[in-house]
Amino acid sequence: MTKRALITGITGQDGAYLSQFLLGKGYEVFGVIRRSSHRGVEDHRLRWLGVADKVTLLDGDLADLSSIVRIMQQVKPDEIYNLAAQSFVASSWQQPVLTANITGVAVTTMLEAMRIVKPEAHFYQASSSEMFGLIQEEMQSEKTPFYPRSPYAVAKLYGHWITVNYRESFGFHASSGILFNHESPLRGTEFVTRKVTDGVARIKLGKAHELRLGNIDAKRDWGHARDYVRAMWLMLQQEKADDYVVATGRTTTVRDMCQIAFEHVGLDMDKYLIIDPAFYRPAEVDVLLGNPAKAQQKLRWTAEISLEEMIKEMVDADLERWRTAVDG
Ligand code: NAP
Ligand code: GDD
Repeated sequence: MTKRALITGITGQDGAYLSQFLLGKGYEVFGVIRRSSHRGVEDHRLRWLGVADKVTLLDGDLADLSSIVRIMQQVKPDEIYNLAAQSFVASSWQQPVLTANITGVAVTTMLEAMRIVKPEAHFYQASSSEMFGLIQEEMQSEKTPFYPRSPYAVAKLYGHWITVNYRESFGFHASSGILFNHESPLRGTEFVTRKVTDGVARIKLGKAHELRLGNIDAKRDWGHARDYVRAMWLMLQQEKADDYVVATGRTTTVRDMCQIAFEHVGLDMDKYLIIDPAFYRPAEVDVLLGNPAKAQQKLRWTAEISLEEMIKEMVDADLERWRTAVDG
């Protein structure tokens, strides 16, 4: 029997890679897409991966329970991946109520729709290392206490605990993946890795002369989205639902990540990088470093793509995009 997967956030970075991964496993893939006046461009990531015509997109919004219930009734999914969110930490101070509603409370919308239509489905919640915030342990694991530092992280913490609660209250097969930062050529350009690789590509091609960043001393545990969607799927294949940290176990400063990108195209970073306090955050997460031991042991998962390989892949993809851009 062909398995059916429902993905919220299918138009985002992870949704695109997860679609590609699940199609490769023979799944029928359905995704929630919200109404936009820019019809026709929302699926650009799915098109980039060559899978847009292989998935079924259904109109809905996480802010609207009835739309989600109808989609669940139509799809009757075996697996549900809740990836939709207002996912940009910096924006969460500008739109804290929306972030609370979509990144936080709407996780209950998803779980309630599942409770009404298909309580036996397997559920994945996209939790985040951002929940560790002001870190309480040098290396963060499933047992490390949380200390959220942004409205986004506070909302994610709600989503995390309501997932655990439905598992414990109703016996749901609901797992929470505490994923550390993961990137790719399909990352939004507002996030720091893609901002850097896109900026470096434009500087290399003479289309820009500087790159403005905020706190370059911040450290992140960066992996590749292609590796991380595999971990999501593995969680839903386990006999029992559980929570897992997904990380590489290596942390790097924004400065050093940036250096990799500039060096790849043979440019001197110091000539172009400008520190702009406009990109500082009201409260910062200084360092994240994940301990993936549980995922390695129980899921037999490990990150395969290094930071260096990923940043080079991203710079090359951005060079290609700008070289072929019509309006570039
Ligand atoms: P992303 O590229 O920003 O994608 C977010 C997705 O959510 C988009 O498809 C977006 O649709 C959708 N969405 C937003 N609001 C919605 C709403 N009201 N109704 C329906 N869909 C809505 O994020 P990502 O990097 O793929 O991350 C996927 C998930 O993992 C997110 O929940 C994120 O918070 C979480 N996470 C990400 C990372 C990471 O490093 N990437 C780490 C930990 C956790 P549009 O295309 O219409 O905007
Ligand atoms: N975006 C951005 N832009 N970040 C900058 C900049 C800049 O110009 N300059 C420095 N940074 C620093 C930020 O202050 C932060 O410390 C770090 O770079 C990473 O920022 P982002 O790439 O925006 O990611 P994030 O860590 O805040 O959040 C991402 O990872 C979380 C998991 O830890 C997002 O994908 C979240 O959705 C995800 O949950």
